[in-house]
Amino acid sequence: MVEIPYPLTTERLVLRRFCADDLDAYYAYQRLPETARYLYGGPRSYVQCMARIAKYVEDPFAGPGDWATFAVERAGLPGLVGELALKWNPGGRTGDGDGAERVGEIGWTLAPGAQGHGYATEAARAVLDLAIDHLGFHRVEARLDARNGASAAICERLGMRREGVLRDNMYLKGEWTSEAIYAVVRS
Ligand SMILES: CC(C)(COP(=O)(O)OP(=O)(O)OC[C@H]1O[C@@H](n2cnc3c(N)ncnc32)[C@H](O)[C@@H]1OP(=O)(O)O)[C@@H](O)C(=O)NCCC(=O)NCCS
Repeated sequence: MVEIPYPLTTERLVLRRFCADDLDAYYAYQRLPETARYLYGGPRSYVQCMARIAKYVEDPFAGPGDWATFAVERAGLPGLVGELALKWNPGGRTGDGDGAERVGEIGWTLAPGAQGHGYATEAARAVLDLAIDHLGFHRVEARLDARNGASAAICERLGMRREGVLRDNMYLKGEWTSEAIYAVVRS
């Protein structure tokens, strides 16, 4: 089990654990078609949002397949404005004596009203620093619909390297689309 040191703080943001009170604000952006546009699945229903928050509240971060999901709010302005997620992927190294190293994936979503201020980039930087510097991740990647320019711009601002594009690797909302992969490694 890895202990996540909630909350993380940045210059303008607090990244904390989700709580039941986040449901309405979470649903308000998760129900929007523009939020779901480049993600698997459609806009989320209220019940789907309830289930996801229930999971976020209790999820352990204990091994491959687990997610740590951070609720993002502005410092001094309580109220959910988005989320950052870190997934622990299969792979990595469990070397005896040399210590374990992990590989993971990062993702982000902001409510429309919170976009355009650099909040996702700022929050993602904090989660990447946590993963690489404190949680023993050797590599963290971001996988995104290659058409998702706003998300690619976050990766570029974070200094993640664009490793390639998998052509027509995803079938999203009735059409094939390509997946771009960005990554940062410890070195
Ligand atoms: C992806 C997503 C989070 C990007 O949001 P975003 O607001 O563009 O990203 P940031 O919060 O990092 O903000 C960057 C913008 O703020 C501007 N900005 C303003 N002040 C800034 C600051 N202090 N620092 C950095 N950027 C700043 C940047 O110029 C940029 O705007 P631009 O694109 O017009 O140049 C958002 O589009 C989203 O939630 N989409 C739906 C879900 C989704 O697709 N998630 C990604 C799955 S891979």
